[in-house]
Amino acid sequence: MVAPINFVSRWCLFPWRSVSLGCQRFHQTQAPGKETHFGFQTVPEEEKGERVYHVFESVAKKYDIMNDSMSLGIHRLWKDWLVRHMNPTPGTQLLDVAGGTGDVAFRFINYIRAQREKLNRNKLDHQQNLSWSDITRSYSQEQQGLLMGSKAVICDINKEMLKVGKERSLRLGYSEGLSWVAGDAEELPFADEKFDVYTIAFGIRNVTHVEKALEEAYRVLKPGGRFLCLEFSHVNNPILARLYDLYSFQVIPVLGEVIAGDWKSYQYLVESIRRFPPQEEYKEMIEDAGFFKVTYRNLTSGVVAVHSGFKL
Ligand SMILES: C[S@@+](CC[C@H](N)C(=O)[O-])C[C@H]1O[C@@H](n2cnc3c(N)ncnc32)[C@H](O)[C@@H]1O
Repeated sequence: MVAPINFVSRWCLFPWRSVSLGCQRFHQTQAPGKETHFGFQTVPEEEKGERVYHVFESVAKKYDIMNDSMSLGIHRLWKDWLVRHMNPTPGTQLLDVAGGTGDVAFRFINYIRAQREKLNRNKLDHQQNLSWSDITRSYSQEQQGLLMGSKAVICDINKEMLKVGKERSLRLGYSEGLSWVAGDAEELPFADEKFDVYTIAFGIRNVTHVEKALEEAYRVLKPGGRFLCLEFSHVNNPILARLYDLYSFQVIPVLGEVIAGDWKSYQYLVESIRRFPPQEEYKEMIEDAGFFKVTYRNLTSGVVAVHSGFKL
């Protein structure tokens, strides 16, 4: 088990902190008065959403630059990996929940564009011998536009994050195939069985009731649809875990202060990572929500993990 190592190493690093994690389960442990965690603090359940909202409202404008600085750009590789693993085909309808400034959705669009290019190249190679069905297919693909009917809906509870994302999408030339919707992961504003893929990247640990968000993911997916979650997780190498703790607690809040003028939000970020359940426990929660074939893959020794499940 990695979690106790993390806890012990954190305690060794910060023995003066009065953090009482040892006797609690990691996920959504709620005291009788319906309390939950906000980083290492215990807060009434109804306060968490508001506090999380303020964190992302405050960091929105510097969110992307902070991501690059904190992770030395590695978050890009993790997100690339997520979309490659998804391997979406033309026509895929994606819902990216807690989608923030659009990183996952933009990669999805790039992937579909690359698929289309590949198809076009193949078509050119065989142009000499086009059959009637090839011509019909190519005509209908043109009618469906550059993305061949694929769409990504970015849903996030935070209007500031969505605003930054929308501006960014215009600047980067992603006009087609994207829509931005304000909504809560726990109560998605979408009909049942609407999407082929549901993604949530670095979002689920911020949600007050993870179980509710998972149920909603299940509800909006079509039968056969896929759930994919990229989230910070628990490092499985003790030496790396120690270094990672040092970096997280000693460097990240400082970067937050220097770059974004916001120590507290980045302190919350590193604390919330420690409070998220370990890989196996989270896998069980996804299964409990009804998903089948649930697996996970650790990236960077478990600094992050990608969990995957299917709605059958
Ligand atoms: C760390 S950011 C991740 C953004 C983006 N997915 C990425 O990977 O860069 C977390 C996002 O979760 C959003 N969020 C937090 N609680 C949420 C909720 N209950 N429903 C929807 N989005 C939520 C925040 O507003 C924020 O944009």
